[in-house]
Amino acid sequence: MVVAPQIDCRGGGRSGGLRAGPHGVHEVSIIGAGLAGYGGTGRADERLEAPVTTAFDPIDLGGIRLHNRIAMAPMTRSRAYAPGLAPTASTAAYYAQRASAGLIVTEGTQPSPVGQGYPDTPGLHSAEQVAAWREVTAAVRTAGGRIFAQLMHTGRIGHPSLLPEGLHPVGPSAVAAKGSVYTANGPKPFVVPRELTEDGIWQTIEDHAAAARNAMAAGFDGVEVHAANGYLTHQFLAPNSNTRTDHWGGDDRRRARFAAELVRAVASAIGPERTGLRISPGKPLGDIDEPEPDATYLELVRALEPIGPAYLHLVEGRDRALTLELRKRFGGAFLLNARAEQGHSGPEQLSLIEDGTADMLSFGALFLANPDLPRRLRLGGPYNSPQRETYYGGDDRGYTDYPALPATEEQ
Ligand SMILES: Cc1cc2nc3c(=O)[nH]c(=O)nc-3n(C[C@H](O)[C@H](O)[C@H](O)COP(=O)(O)O)c2cc1C
Repeated sequence: MVVAPQIDCRGGGRSGGLRAGPHGVHEVSIIGAGLAGYGGTGRADERLEAPVTTAFDPIDLGGIRLHNRIAMAPMTRSRAYAPGLAPTASTAAYYAQRASAGLIVTEGTQPSPVGQGYPDTPGLHSAEQVAAWREVTAAVRTAGGRIFAQLMHTGRIGHPSLLPEGLHPVGPSAVAAKGSVYTANGPKPFVVPRELTEDGIWQTIEDHAAAARNAMAAGFDGVEVHAANGYLTHQFLAPNSNTRTDHWGGDDRRRARFAAELVRAVASAIGPERTGLRISPGKPLGDIDEPEPDATYLELVRALEPIGPAYLHLVEGRDRALTLELRKRFGGAFLLNARAEQGHSGPEQLSLIEDGTADMLSFGALFLANPDLPRRLRLGGPYNSPQRETYYGGDDRGYTDYPALPATEEQ
């Protein structure tokens, strides 16, 4: 590895460092950054001409300095066992163990009681939850990390038995998803959701804004709006789950409107530089069918432009060309959860920072199983394997007991 002790990446362009977009990412100097992957002769003039940004270089995200470009992807763990669906001391330990990520994005948290689709997922809609999350963010901050809360409203993916008495899952249209949901009494078919009225839509948007304010009160660095993986906002984006004919459905621009209004409301509540958005164009999770996602998501990115959220987090599908197009058109930082040929994303994706495909990469299962993932990626492994049977619910096994590598002098 070639190490350039004093490299200033200012103005280096996309592969040379940081984009000077209208918002979100600003240029910063990278002093003493390791240049893994740099293949030059080491002559000073050549180094200055062709600095390569790596995943281990810092980045400025909406004014927050992240110490690397490796994010922990949001992962539901269904362990909000504290009273009122709040996180526990184990949750604080779990995230603090992973504070070497440039950015942690939490598990999906419901912005309102009706937004819950799985057992024991935490919320961000009560004073009790805010107080409990404050312990989590304090533990992460003490360990030197940065953490955004993911707001996840599951919409039609849910079941009345998971909700407080009298509530029923909602959706853009009264169209049930095919498939079944895990409940306390075993798997149950998805129900037909209650179609949101105009007032219901605006109330749901306001619930997200209120939850975002709660997140800031709980000490988070920001909020990621979840518009991916088949949940409520994705249900608005997709033509098979959104059959509305009013101004929330009917064409690409209208189907993208709910996502854009959510981002607008969250950004005006906490600041665009504290707001991110996660999307998964074309991903069929939750019985989503988007035969032509490009037009919808390019409309969405266009609608985001005047709002200026800090980042776009893409769960990549099969279409790398769409990834590159979204990256080109989005003005803020581009966070990529890259598609793996098989299994989960891993070290083979690191070159996507070096070649400019993304500003940051997120890792899911590998981060779940490797609390010190950035260090392991830098060293080239080894890696603990994720244990699927402890993903959702249970005790601290498979939660806080994945070992870090032993400390060595190289640290
Ligand atoms: C246990 C588990 C829970 C997940 N929960 C969420 C979630 O709450 N919100 C979300 O946006 N994605 C969720 N995901 C998807 C991950 O964020 C990520 O997109 C997926 O694991 C693919 O990335 P990977 O190949 O790096 O694991 C979850 C994934 C796993 C493994």
